[in-house]
Amino acid sequence: MDHSITQQGSNELCDVQDQDQELFLSKLPKTKGWLGSSDLSLYQNFWCPSTLVPNIISFQKHFQAHDQDIILASKPKSGTTWLKALLFTIVNRTNSNLSDTPLLNSNPHELVPFFEFTLYANNNELPNLSDIPSPRLFSTHIPYASLPESMKDSKSRIVYICRNPLDIIVSHWHFATQADGVHSCSKWTLEEFVDVYCKGEEIFGPFWNHMLGYWKQSLENPQKVLFLKYEDLKKDTKTQVKRLAEFVGFPFSLEEENKDIVEDILKLCSLRNLKDLEVNKHGKFMPYFDNKSYFRKGQVGDWANHLTKAMVKRLEKLIREKLSAYGLTFELVI
Ligand code: A3P
Repeated sequence: MDHSITQQGSNELCDVQDQDQELFLSKLPKTKGWLGSSDLSLYQNFWCPSTLVPNIISFQKHFQAHDQDIILASKPKSGTTWLKALLFTIVNRTNSNLSDTPLLNSNPHELVPFFEFTLYANNNELPNLSDIPSPRLFSTHIPYASLPESMKDSKSRIVYICRNPLDIIVSHWHFATQADGVHSCSKWTLEEFVDVYCKGEEIFGPFWNHMLGYWKQSLENPQKVLFLKYEDLKKDTKTQVKRLAEFVGFPFSLEEENKDIVEDILKLCSLRNLKDLEVNKHGKFMPYFDNKSYFRKGQVGDWANHLTKAMVKRLEKLIREKLSAYGLTFELVI
């Protein structure tokens, strides 16, 4: 379906304040989502669960960025949880011992909350974010173009984690099959997942717009946006973590390096360690998803175990046309 005529431009937000919001929401183009009862709406050129649009509007209207804020942005299944664990630990390493870090008792998503799923989820009450100690750590799956102006205008920093789309799709499909039943997950096949991703009709998609938005900003304004790739993090975690620490203003001292603090952080935040924590084995921070579903295999190139040749060909063509043309390429297997 061609949605180009009905797409909502970024100026639309101003009008929403004075409009009947329900009417506005009902007019947005819709498509089927994989989570049973929840469809997706095309809002400001990206597809998002219809139930989240009011939260996003509230976030866009009310959030006031501080210069010290650090925002982690990603498409789902790109390594968000891992990066949250790393970021939280890097920034808080002088506040608590690693043996005593809140990460041992909380899922990373509780420590670095999402704007759209958590902080602005209650439309009757705005969150009080003023008491959060600086630097405040937040996260979002929203594309760059739709971030609140105060975030773009302030000196707050954004870290984006990107992952090769083939592994994102496979990871997302596994994640979806685990979603538990209150809203009866529709159990889409992998073919259906590949198809919606290729049409750009996936959650927070199209993926190429999402990735390119942050990619371009990272090239134009490297002080503002750090663009990390999951594959690089896997390949040389230490180098990437030091890069991350420097970017957010918490570089490792020589003394810390000599004491192997970086290595300790890597171990703490490793997939195996996080997966084995009680809180991640049994807890739940979102209604339909167990904490454990955020930790699976963590393998670059797992797509080769699941996608057919035809699917790979279709996706590779898309990646070439939509991303490689702008210098954004992926190592598909390590
Ligand atoms: P797989 O499904 O390929 O295993 P997100 O956090 O954005 O939802 O992404 C989830 C993906 O990141 C899953 O990928 C998950 O296993 C992987 N992941 C989670 N924690 C990780 C960690 N500490 N190290 C490496 N990968 C991790």
